[in-house]
Amino acid sequence: MTLGASMFFASVGLAISPVHYPPSSTKINDLEFALSGSGAPGVYSSSYTPESQYGVYNWCNMPHVRPKEYRTPPRNYSLEYVEVIQRHHKRTPYASNTFNQEDIDWFCTGSGPTFGATSSKGEGTNGSPVQWQGFVDSNNPWTTTVPPGFKNSDCQFPQITDQGLEDAILHGKDLRGVYAPLLDLPLHIDSDIAAIRVTTNVITSQVASGLAKGLFPASLSENVPVKIQSANFDSLEPKYSCNRASTIRSDITTGSQGDLWKNHLNKAASIFEKLDKVSGFPKDDTGGWHVSFDHYYDNLSAKQCHQKRLPCNLHDSSVCVSQEDANTVYRLGNWEYSYLYRDAQASAEYAALRYGAWVLELRGHLQAKMDGNSKLKYLHNVAHDGSISSLLGFLQIDQMVWPGMGSEVVFELYSSKSAHSSSWFIRVLWSGQPIKTSTPLGTLDMVPLEQFFQYIDSMVGSGNDLFAACYS
Ligand SMILES: *[C@@H]1O[C@H](CO)[C@@H](O)[C@H](O)[C@H]1NC(C)=O
Ligand SMILES: *[C@@H]1O[C@H](CO)[C@@H](O)[C@H](O)[C@H]1NC(C)=O
Repeated sequence: MTLGASMFFASVGLAISPVHYPPSSTKINDLEFALSGSGAPGVYSSSYTPESQYGVYNWCNMPHVRPKEYRTPPRNYSLEYVEVIQRHHKRTPYASNTFNQEDIDWFCTGSGPTFGATSSKGEGTNGSPVQWQGFVDSNNPWTTTVPPGFKNSDCQFPQITDQGLEDAILHGKDLRGVYAPLLDLPLHIDSDIAAIRVTTNVITSQVASGLAKGLFPASLSENVPVKIQSANFDSLEPKYSCNRASTIRSDITTGSQGDLWKNHLNKAASIFEKLDKVSGFPKDDTGGWHVSFDHYYDNLSAKQCHQKRLPCNLHDSSVCVSQEDANTVYRLGNWEYSYLYRDAQASAEYAALRYGAWVLELRGHLQAKMDGNSKLKYLHNVAHDGSISSLLGFLQIDQMVWPGMGSEVVFELYSSKSAHSSSWFIRVLWSGQPIKTSTPLGTLDMVPLEQFFQYIDSMVGSGNDLFAACYS
């Protein structure tokens, strides 16, 4: 396929004008199926996917690159640089997604985030790592002003769970199995050659600690340096403010372009009603339980992924969430992500603005490699569902889903040298396989790097264009 700059609108001047290429129509973005179909849109009960099915959607632990399924390109391509971005692994729910009163227990005794400080003066002056253990003291009268959630729990909501940590270690090991031989990665992390990046949300550092153990096994018990940007402008989570992106988000949900969104909430009224009977939330709840399925989805899936039962009403144990109710929530959650990041007409522009800064950084890393200005061979970003979904929206994946725990996108940069020239190609893997997009680039499998750059430029233009578009 030959592809000239003319296939994308060039972005010139202040405004950017990304072209929206709609996704395929599938069960995921079929509202009728989401509302009244059946079954869960994947695995929600365990991190383990049977070997014969590896690659299917598993909310608890999404498929990633590993030796068994990895397809090594022909020998005339040599791998020069790999950039990975993943969602963190399994965790407890966020406090905001816990019911006012939970009828099950969730404890984290002896597990969880450690913190500490080290000194450049070396070992004898380092502090000891400390570990957070949550607690409530009823003598503090404010403790009754917030919903208690899980009774007497010592967990942080959220924190990466034991199972999530195991998933992170295995994820690192699997990536090492593929990329250490191809890139000649050392056993110790060496920040000139390989780096890990996190967000200001501590759960990404918890995952990074597991990941580093698997990826760079000789780094264990050393301090692994991880890169982090200021929360004022972090591109990875992302945290930078972009007024235009926020405006689009409200337009396509509660605003003038939000008819489909409002329609799905109206049609789901009876499902909310059923769930509210268990959670105790009133119909006019203002805590975000009825503006999307996000909270119920997290609340139910976190439990199921950790083999906890579905909840019942604390005061009436005969009123419970059924598996079919939970499956409906899971189908609707996926419909919502497809709508927000792919189906809505303005979703491409939304994703371009929301994730443009990170993509421009990626573009810079690829350019530096091509220009021979970088020794870095491997960069691993640990991020969130909002990061992965915005990136998938930016790339215009052909079938969107709500990115589950550990979801992974890998950018592989290849060179191919002939007698008189060297050319550069990019392969992008989603869930371990080349990603299918709805754009003229099709499946991103050895796409000439220049064409990939043209696509990025058509979506965000330069950094100045992006910045201006955010405040236009
Ligand atoms: C590399 O080799 C494959 C055949 O094995 C061929 O299809 C491809 O065009 C070659 N790529 C380059 C860049 O030479
Ligand atoms: C689910 O919501 C209930 C009700 O607010 C809350 O008590 C519980 O902690 C939540 N659980 C999860 C796993 O989010």
